[in-house]
Amino acid sequence: MRPRLTRVKSPDVLIAESGADLEGHGLRRSMGLFQLVCFGVGAIVGTGIFVGLSDTVAEAGPATVVSFALAAVTCVLTAFSFAELGGAIPVSGSSYSYAYATLGEGAAFITGWCLLLEYGVSVSAVAVGWGQYLNELLHSVTGWQLPAALSTSPSEGGVLNLPAVVVIVLAATLLVRGVRESARATAAMAVLKLGVLALFCAIAFAAFEAGNLTPFAAHGVAGVTSGASVAFFSYIGFDAITTAGEEVKNPRRTIPLAIMICIGVVTLLYCLVAVAAIGAMSADDVAGKPAALSLIVNRVTDSAVGGGIIAFGAVVAIASVVLAVMYGQTRILMSMSRDGLIPRVFERISPATATPVAGTWIVAAVFAVPAAVVPLDVVLDLTTIGTLAAMVVVNTSVIALRRSHPRLARPFRMPFFPLPPLLGIACCGYLIYGTGAAAWLQFGVFLLVGMGLYAAYGRRHSRLRDAYTTPSGPHQKRASTNSSQS
Ligand code: ALA
Repeated sequence: MRPRLTRVKSPDVLIAESGADLEGHGLRRSMGLFQLVCFGVGAIVGTGIFVGLSDTVAEAGPATVVSFALAAVTCVLTAFSFAELGGAIPVSGSSYSYAYATLGEGAAFITGWCLLLEYGVSVSAVAVGWGQYLNELLHSVTGWQLPAALSTSPSEGGVLNLPAVVVIVLAATLLVRGVRESARATAAMAVLKLGVLALFCAIAFAAFEAGNLTPFAAHGVAGVTSGASVAFFSYIGFDAITTAGEEVKNPRRTIPLAIMICIGVVTLLYCLVAVAAIGAMSADDVAGKPAALSLIVNRVTDSAVGGGIIAFGAVVAIASVVLAVMYGQTRILMSMSRDGLIPRVFERISPATATPVAGTWIVAAVFAVPAAVVPLDVVLDLTTIGTLAAMVVVNTSVIALRRSHPRLARPFRMPFFPLPPLLGIACCGYLIYGTGAAAWLQFGVFLLVGMGLYAAYGRRHSRLRDAYTTPSGPHQKRASTNSSQS
């Protein structure tokens, strides 16, 4: 018998428990390919491009497009792993479930813990970005904006960030009403924000000046590298597609396809936006500016109307990220709860709406607190490093699963295996290096707390342990058999 920490939960058990190809655990299979791609775009395109572009420009200068491309390469390499695993094990736990199937319970718990940074903490971060743009929009439409006391955190001179709390409550309200309703809203918002970014490109390219791109790598290779670490935040969220594993029609085909389409569309769009932005206004003028996209459009069109439209797009875009990322967080917690690693309240599905109502409200309440009182930049690096760590796990899991379950059905098999996951791990390591010592330290402390929680709660309540000692139910029985093969 394996030690508790390294016991794996076989893919067969994960799939059987989730009811893959059936209705699983009271959730409904209501999303098709188009809705899933929109959900992915909904989770990806938001604060990173609308608010963070100017921070990437500050690091990389005119070579910002290279930073975006570098960050995209990391994501594309890891997207192969997500696509293969998402097709082979189409369950709601995403990286957490893949780690459980391959690396063991301890690694799975820590991966789930890291996903709290990628999903939960980014709900807070993204909500703060939304508040900034809402104020920008209010200002351009009415000339009035919320007082600083109600729109900034205490460390920025305010009392609380009320808009950030409001968007989290709105997202939770929509999510508990049902996945069909949330998916429809997300699809509409995704189409709108792609349209707004396309409009931005059209306007900015009309004022394109090639001279703005020279000297190209003004801040050298180091600038491009740290720019890539900043740009990476804009890509976070594509893996949220895999958290919808139990609510997608024909998940084995739809999930890999949706991941590849999403990452391709978003990469192309971000690179175009980066080139268009710097072509229209010099890198020095863009660097570090809040609401840079609105600023550029205002300058090119010589009117505040265009900037207002972009601000409207940003408000919609960022709201849909909050919605999609919060959705992902509740599904991951649901998977961990089913496994007994966290309290059972997170796995309860409301029969009326077929959604985890209690879990959604707990997530909203917990992450509304940092959204209300913490400034954006404090949590961005932590979100990035947590996501990169989870991606290292996914790239490792895909290699481990090929070894442990070579004959498992894989609707998508990545080409050139094992090159993509190995390069993916190297790229993630490179970007983690780029986040800097303060982020490494915060992340180290965060990991230690996670290990403590696993020892104090998860290890004791794990249902996988019960599966070994009391193989009575059908899943438990399979758990025993498969895990011992693994
Ligand atoms: N990629 C997401 C955003 O940029 C987190 O808002």
